[in-house]
Amino acid sequence: MASDKGESRRISVSDIQGRKGGQPLVCLTAYSKPMAQWLDPHMDLLLVGDSLAMVIYGMETTRGVTLDAMINHGAAVMRGSTRACVIVDLPHGTYEDDPDTALASAERVMKETGVQGVKLEGGVEMATTIRRLTENGIPVLGHIGLLPQKAESRGGFKIQGKDDEGWKRVFDDAKAVAEAGAFAMVIEGTVEALAREITETVAIPTIGIGASPGCDGQILVTEDALGLFSDFTPKFVKRYAELGGEVERAAKAYAEDVQARQFPGLEHCFGIPKDKD
Ligand code: KIV
Repeated sequence: MASDKGESRRISVSDIQGRKGGQPLVCLTAYSKPMAQWLDPHMDLLLVGDSLAMVIYGMETTRGVTLDAMINHGAAVMRGSTRACVIVDLPHGTYEDDPDTALASAERVMKETGVQGVKLEGGVEMATTIRRLTENGIPVLGHIGLLPQKAESRGGFKIQGKDDEGWKRVFDDAKAVAEAGAFAMVIEGTVEALAREITETVAIPTIGIGASPGCDGQILVTEDALGLFSDFTPKFVKRYAELGGEVERAAKAYAEDVQARQFPGLEHCFGIPKDKD
């Protein structure tokens, strides 16, 4: 459970699965060791999301990030966490073509990072791939509803399930992902009633982002929640801090100190006689 201190064992995918219908799962993204260290004591799951393409690297979409980059960030988050279940996104172009390619990519992630599993986007069309991975011992977190990697080809970041056809498509995706053996699924950018119905229907936990308070857990992009990414703020984000403003304030104070020769002070220097320490 989130916020319990002093646990010696990392939360496993089975623990996450066991939380279906129980206390809500608390999840955030993390891309670096320091951020993982801050978040870890309070999180059930840390996602090394391909959102880092936009948030860290300033790319236009999530599609530009490589498997090598995801592996490097995954390893960093593992170094900074001891408690949360850590999952790495399979990036665009590394799993969609066929199950063998997906398996090779997922095996690299698992071996080179030590994380607990991988996430991949897609529903019915990804069921065979999810099954292949899980049958080979690789836990999969599904991702349905709004799919950022495919948003461009589907007319943008649009809320899913607004009409009957869209509702049925997302619902079928949810059932397919659960039946294929995923241990849980992210539901992103989906009308509330549909996310709720999916949660009540499937046997695995749902983790909502722009979905429903009825989901079995919630996830946000950490930089959105902390006010560190201000290119845009989607409606579903709640800001828990305004750290961007704090960083700017500190940078300004530092600049003023350096320009006024107020920094460094003698207490920051070496070889100063003791009475001046
Ligand atoms: O890449 C990501 O950060 C994600 C979350 C938004 C769920 O997929």
